[in-house]
Amino acid sequence: MTYQIKRVGVIGAGTMGAAIAALVAGTGIPVILLDVPPSSLTAEEEAKGLTLNHPQVRNRIVQQGFERMRKARPSNLYSERTAELITLGNTEDDFHRLAECDWIVEAIVEQIGPKQSLMARLEEVRKPHAIVTTNTSGIPIRIIAEGRSEAFRRHFFGSHFFNPPRYLRLLEIIPGDDADPAVVAAFRQFAEERLGKGVVICKDRPNFIGNRIFVYAGQVLINYALQHGYRVEEVDALTGPLIGRPNTASFRLLDQVGIDVMAYVAANLYDAIPDDESRDVYRQNDLTQKLVAAGKLGKKVGQGFYKEVRQNGKREF
Ligand code: NAI
Repeated sequence: MTYQIKRVGVIGAGTMGAAIAALVAGTGIPVILLDVPPSSLTAEEEAKGLTLNHPQVRNRIVQQGFERMRKARPSNLYSERTAELITLGNTEDDFHRLAECDWIVEAIVEQIGPKQSLMARLEEVRKPHAIVTTNTSGIPIRIIAEGRSEAFRRHFFGSHFFNPPRYLRLLEIIPGDDADPAVVAAFRQFAEERLGKGVVICKDRPNFIGNRIFVYAGQVLINYALQHGYRVEEVDALTGPLIGRPNTASFRLLDQVGIDVMAYVAANLYDAIPDDESRDVYRQNDLTQKLVAAGKLGKKVGQGFYKEVRQNGKREF
């Protein structure tokens, strides 16, 4: 059968999901972008007398993710008109709309339980032959697909975009054991020809290829800086402009990725490789734990290793 991707569903409107939605919309394909409805009201919503059932409240999280993506520099959007191709919704009221999609990509929190539960719901709603992929940074694909039907698993694999997805060409595709090679080949062609990606097919091993290297380097660096008392700015001066990485020096990059995301990825990897000699590197360190506990999750909240400042109407981070 020939695969035609005419409508796409993206679940999770955070750093990656909202930007993947923008990437896809930039090629002219309509996207449905979903996130969870909030479980509590903000002070502002309470003051306005709104309840958790108000449509404006139900879509608050997806709306915020969409606006953050829209304001990001460099821009995720190819043009403002591109944004009109993205429809926002939440995973309770609008989940059924995913039945319209030919490809559904999951970009929610990097935890096994929520990803598995989401796949169980997707199995119920996806149309036959719809492709489902996960943007996981490193959880094995077979674990996310555990308990799903053979038909689902034939159409399911990893599609690991790099941050920011509009600008980084690399796309890791992780087929797992059960994916139908014809489906994977069709998606690969779509990713290369329509999304403009350079695809690498990876084995279904924890953290695949790119993140096995990146997370190792990130963890070693944090541990080394902590142990020897280097400051964040000092490390970034040495691992940034001097080696041609002005905006992606080490700690800046961790802020961009999300400190909570990095912590989940490291913790998952620690659990997944009990016999690996490098395992201790992925143990949680005090600094990361403190930042996560304080809600300083990086660029997405305006504060992490660095803090967002506004000067002359410009935002610097
Ligand atoms: P994020 O923390 O920025 O956003 C996650 C979003 O998912 C949030 O808006 C949250 O409300 C939503 N969410 C959580 N549970 C949900 C559920 N059950 N249903 C619907 N939405 C839900 O995370 P980020 O960074 O966008 O990561 C998403 C995925 O992409 C993770 O698997 C992560 O490991 C992976 N990834 C992250 C990269 C990065 O640089 N941040 C790069 C490549 C992959």
